[in-house]
Amino acid sequence: MTDASPLFRSFRIRNLTLANRIVMAPMTRSRSPGGFPNDANVAYYERRAAAGVGLILSEGTLTRRRGASNDADVPLFWGDQALAGWQRVIDAVHAAGGKMAPQLWHQGMSRKPGTGHFPDAPSDGPSGVTLMGKKIAEEPSEAEVLDMAQAYADAAGDAKRLGFDCIELHGAHAYLIDEFFWERTNQRTDRFGGSIEKRAEFAAETIRRCRAAVGELPIIIRISQWKSVDYAAKLAQTPEELERWVRVLVDAGVDIIHCSQRRLVEPEFPGIDGPKGLNLAGWVKKLSGLPTISVGSVGLTSEFTGAFKGEGSAAGKLDEAIERLDRGEFDLMAVGRALLQDPEWVNKVEQHRFDELRDYDARALQTYY
Ligand SMILES: Cc1cc2nc3c(=O)[nH]c(=O)nc-3n(C[C@H](O)[C@H](O)[C@H](O)COP(=O)(O)O)c2cc1C
Repeated sequence: MTDASPLFRSFRIRNLTLANRIVMAPMTRSRSPGGFPNDANVAYYERRAAAGVGLILSEGTLTRRRGASNDADVPLFWGDQALAGWQRVIDAVHAAGGKMAPQLWHQGMSRKPGTGHFPDAPSDGPSGVTLMGKKIAEEPSEAEVLDMAQAYADAAGDAKRLGFDCIELHGAHAYLIDEFFWERTNQRTDRFGGSIEKRAEFAAETIRRCRAAVGELPIIIRISQWKSVDYAAKLAQTPEELERWVRVLVDAGVDIIHCSQRRLVEPEFPGIDGPKGLNLAGWVKKLSGLPTISVGSVGLTSEFTGAFKGEGSAAGKLDEAIERLDRGEFDLMAVGRALLQDPEWVNKVEQHRFDELRDYDARALQTYY
């Protein structure tokens, strides 16, 4: 029988103690019309905090750059009305015994021009280049790039002021920060472009500015090899390249690296350590010396991209994920769809009620509970 106890050891980073190792993965739900967190959003997060999630990562929430999103139902993390809504969210989460970070998000060139809260605003990107590598706009000046970085830091400062427990920067999935990491979208020749170290400089600048804004609050960055338009993409082909990339983030002062994979049990460099080798979070932990979060199909048999095509997923075993965490391959385990489907998932796992874990039903995306 599965022993879930390794998931229920506490975890400490800086001044933050989490009761267990289970993190709710950030999931955009597009349920905040106008960009303002509302009663339904408060209840959604409060429910999961009350049911034992160790750390809740919010859905992606937008920085003040006007072109940050393609969806006017995605919450903002700036302005009095949105921040008042987030104040209610974090107060409710804390009252229920939970901890929470906002995931700070800017979609970069993934946003279609003419969409989102401010349809007339231009999209931001490192080089005015689309995800397919097509140049459609002028490259932004260094001053504009620095303002993009500062926009995350302004939101981070507000998160601290509101009482959030930490912050997460969305640096994955071909959104703005990841577009700086990626050669295809970053064609700059200044200090933000060129080698992998220079392509990581935007993230470093953002981390340093966030640190100035949040002081001791832990800073998480989410990264991924894969891109929304290219699941086979690999920013780092080798551990050496991965080390060069994450070293820049470590030196900038990040506390935790959240490594987005579609399947947690997939080895990152099987040619080196075999088919059961370290996953991305395992390699990043080994190379950076920092704690990491792993994620991907935990408790389910198929990966999340199917969710957007209306596919469900059968419940699956947790053993290998728990064994990897127990061995110290990574420190925290994020759970997406299983927690979207079932707010009680953590309690059921802790109480070894595995037969009550449900399949992920595609209709869960249409409801909001
Ligand atoms: C409906 C939905 C929305 C998502 N939105 C985000 C997001 O806003 N930010 C992000 O970093 N990842 C997002 N993801 C990816 C999840 O955080 C997670 O990495 C992915 O679902 C894999 O975990 P799972 O297999 O446990 O669902 C989303 C996934 C789903 C299913």
